[in-house]
Amino acid sequence: MVPTVNQVETHVFNQQTAAHDLMKKYNTQIESWGPFAEGKNNLFTNSTLREVGDKYNKSTAQVALRFLIQRDVVVIPKTVNKNRMEENYNVFDFTLTAEDMEKIEALDTGKSLFFSHYDPQTVEYIISLGK
Ligand SMILES: NC(=O)c1ccc[n+]([C@@H]2O[C@H](COP(=O)([O-])OP(=O)(O)OC[C@H]3O[C@@H](n4cnc5c(N)ncnc54)[C@H](OP(=O)(O)O)[C@@H]3O)[C@@H](O)[C@H]2O)c1
Repeated sequence: MVPTVNQVETHVFNQQTAAHDLMKKYNTQIESWGPFAEGKNNLFTNSTLREVGDKYNKSTAQVALRFLIQRDVVVIPKTVNKNRMEENYNVFDFTLTAEDMEKIEALDTGKSLFFSHYDPQTVEYIISLGK
């Protein structure tokens, strides 16, 4: 059985390029878990995101979301703040250029900022959740 949607940690610092390619092959929609990396790695003050955002009068958060959307990643950002909710919604009135996208692609570390699925302790923990 092939999943229709697969929610995995996906943000500018962990872009999931290889996994995303595999999902496309099987028509599985990638959905971001933690589209802002929960703010880790100073995402909201990142200089690349800020530099790109300044061109469009957009925030670092908006650029981070727009990048994922343009890569066909579904994003459902969480906020308890009404202003930030509006900010996160207003990402459909600008388009990042290929050059912008390349700059942001360079932020990818190819690694999780939360945990490694290759660490036996993490695997044991995840298995324990199903018991
Ligand atoms: N499966 C599950 O049980 C489960 C549960 C929860 C979440 N999730 C997944 O986790 C994702 C959501 O959230 P997450 O909290 O884990 O990570 P996240 O979306 O990467 O980050 C959310 C954090 O960013 C802050 N934030 C949101 N918009 C902002 C903005 N425009 N400017 C500055 N800060 C902003 C929020 O703070 P404020 O709220 O203070 O604005 C919150 O601290 C969902 O997409 C969902 O996929 C899954």
